[in-house]
Amino acid sequence: MTAMPPLITPRLIIRPFVLDDLDAYCRLQQASAEGVLSPGEGVATREQCAEWLRWAAANAVQLAQLHQPPYGDRAVTLRSSGELIGACGLVPCIGPFEQIPEVAGGPVSAPLKTASAEVGLFYMISAGQRRRGYASEAAHALIDYAFGELRIHRVIATTTHDNTASQRVMRRLGMQIGRNSFPDPHWLQVVGVRVNPAARPAEMSAS
Ligand SMILES: CC(C)(COP(=O)(O)OP(=O)(O)OC[C@H]1O[C@@H](n2cnc3c(N)ncnc32)[C@H](O)[C@@H]1OP(=O)(O)O)[C@@H](O)C(=O)NCCC(=O)NCCS
Repeated sequence: MTAMPPLITPRLIIRPFVLDDLDAYCRLQQASAEGVLSPGEGVATREQCAEWLRWAAANAVQLAQLHQPPYGDRAVTLRSSGELIGACGLVPCIGPFEQIPEVAGGPVSAPLKTASAEVGLFYMISAGQRRRGYASEAAHALIDYAFGELRIHRVIATTTHDNTASQRVMRRLGMQIGRNSFPDPHWLQVVGVRVNPAARPAEMSAS
């Protein structure tokens, strides 16, 4: 497996994080936290941001050296200015996702006792840059890479019932959206799923 190259879209470059992103990453964390933190929660400190950045940058390099899948956050930057405006990536997801009829490909009558391992999508955009189509554009590039280069059978995205923005992004990505009708697990709420159009019909139902 080769390293994921920078993904270039009409307006964005999606690339690995580097240590030089520290100032911009701290600003991104600050901006994104505004208005969404609960009482008692704090914005990440500069040292916490630095620690995360060291890990994220090393993660991309080390996974590539091990020929492992390119899991982990990537920086979303503007092509016009280089500005860091968000993060996105492919993430490993383990859970009873086939409790969701849209993922299972048909009705589900009981909660599952086992989990499946899925390739998930993560995306976040700085509060000041939202509603300009950037999350959809970045996530589209990830899906194209996942389907075209990695030949992944399907990708999912998960969110909470109240995260309308994330669900709208899923729709824009052409995902089918389903809800967990069972009480458990409580974190499994809304799931978007899209199957690789290159999959043969038999593969579509046997996932
Ligand atoms: C979810 C998020 C990434 C969306 O980013 P974005 O760049 O604003 O999304 P886009 O501009 O691509 O918008 C896609 C669609 O969502 C809609 N949308 C965006 N924000 C919205 C909001 N707050 N309320 C309702 N709809 C919203 C857009 O209007 C657009 O809809 P359309 O396809 O009907 O035109 C951003 O709100 C965010 O970073 N949220 C915090 C992190 C997060 O929740 N990530 C999701 C992981 S679960």
